[in-house]
Amino acid sequence: MLNKRLELLSDYAFAKLNTLLEPIQPQANLPPLVLSVGDPMHNPPAFVHEIIGNRPPESWNRYPPVNGSPEFRAACAGWLRRRYRLPQGMIDAERQIAPCAGTREGLFHAAFLAVTPSESGERPVALMPNPFYQVYYGASVMAGAEPRFLPADQSTGFLPDLGAIDPVLLKRTQIMFLCTPGNPQGACAGLDYLRGAIHLARKHDFLLVVDECYAEIYNGAPPTGILEAAASLGGSLDNILALHSLSKRSSAAGLRSGFAVGSPATIARMFQLRSYSCAATPVPISEAAVALWNDDAHVEPIRRSYQEKFALAERVLGKRRGYYTPEAGLFLWLDVGDGEAVTKKLWAEQAIKVLPGAYLTRPDAEGRNSGVPYVRIALVHDLETTEAALTRMARAL
Ligand SMILES: Cc1ncc(COP(=O)(O)O)c(C=O)c1O
Repeated sequence: MLNKRLELLSDYAFAKLNTLLEPIQPQANLPPLVLSVGDPMHNPPAFVHEIIGNRPPESWNRYPPVNGSPEFRAACAGWLRRRYRLPQGMIDAERQIAPCAGTREGLFHAAFLAVTPSESGERPVALMPNPFYQVYYGASVMAGAEPRFLPADQSTGFLPDLGAIDPVLLKRTQIMFLCTPGNPQGACAGLDYLRGAIHLARKHDFLLVVDECYAEIYNGAPPTGILEAAASLGGSLDNILALHSLSKRSSAAGLRSGFAVGSPATIARMFQLRSYSCAATPVPISEAAVALWNDDAHVEPIRRSYQEKFALAERVLGKRRGYYTPEAGLFLWLDVGDGEAVTKKLWAEQAIKVLPGAYLTRPDAEGRNSGVPYVRIALVHDLETTEAALTRMARAL
């Protein structure tokens, strides 16, 4: 009676973590600290509450516009131009921006935009990095594609090696997900890499979906974006869909506000899909989102707070073998030898929850799972809590 594809989605990482830790009683005298989930815990700027709180009751009585307001689309396009120094006119806000309820929704929709069951019976392929954000997998499965994983481990610089993809697979590929800055490894693709990805997508005519939701949280120079690569190739967004979000940039995951940017043809299809499927953003939330995308000043202290936490992590854990400070993102991807065993130990001895790396990876054809030695540690709390957590962690490790 129920869709059989759903059976393939039964090993969601956080459900597995609950099963792993359920039988374990954490140290009773320590306050539990959860560093397994990536919920940003800083506060969004106060104007968000003012905008939403000051709206009259009738702001809530109508269905919001499915594709957002012209002001929303213009604010997103304006931010893209500033952030990526794009030429004037490269992005047509009305035809190339679609809102989404966080990048999660946009990523899920992307698979339904791209994947068409082939008439020959050959299964379409969805390529994604390994480790991967769970939604790439879930969306691909539900859209009827075969998920195929591209190693993105230490040996490949934590990004998929685009030159190493089997040409036979590329023939069947209809969508490829890239995550830059990457979750969990924090690696950022450079301009040449991104240009290569665009060439590959156009050569094999698949949709290149670039998840850039961590684009504003970085430790060094601002990470390059796929739109900069597209600009350097003439400005067309054919075969490209990039996803952005206020969740990390503005520490406003609860707003559920993000957007997709792509070619007019892709976004027209996305608008069409949204008419049937989307959770349209309520008008007051969309107005708060406009103010957030139009303002860069509030992002600086948020970014700085992550930089302070990474500096702290380096002081506390930096001498460990395999420790590295990521270029960007919210996470430490720490080689601890056996991620599951250490996750259990940290919970039992220190009441600290982290995520075993293997819950974000799949074994390769030889059965080797590159995530096994790792744990993912989300630096999402304030500095003081993070210090307490990392100190307790260092003690147990
Ligand atoms: C890699 C990646 N992509 C997308 C998302 C979804 O974020 P949101 O829907 O809040 O924009 C997350 C959330 O943690 C993520 O880690």
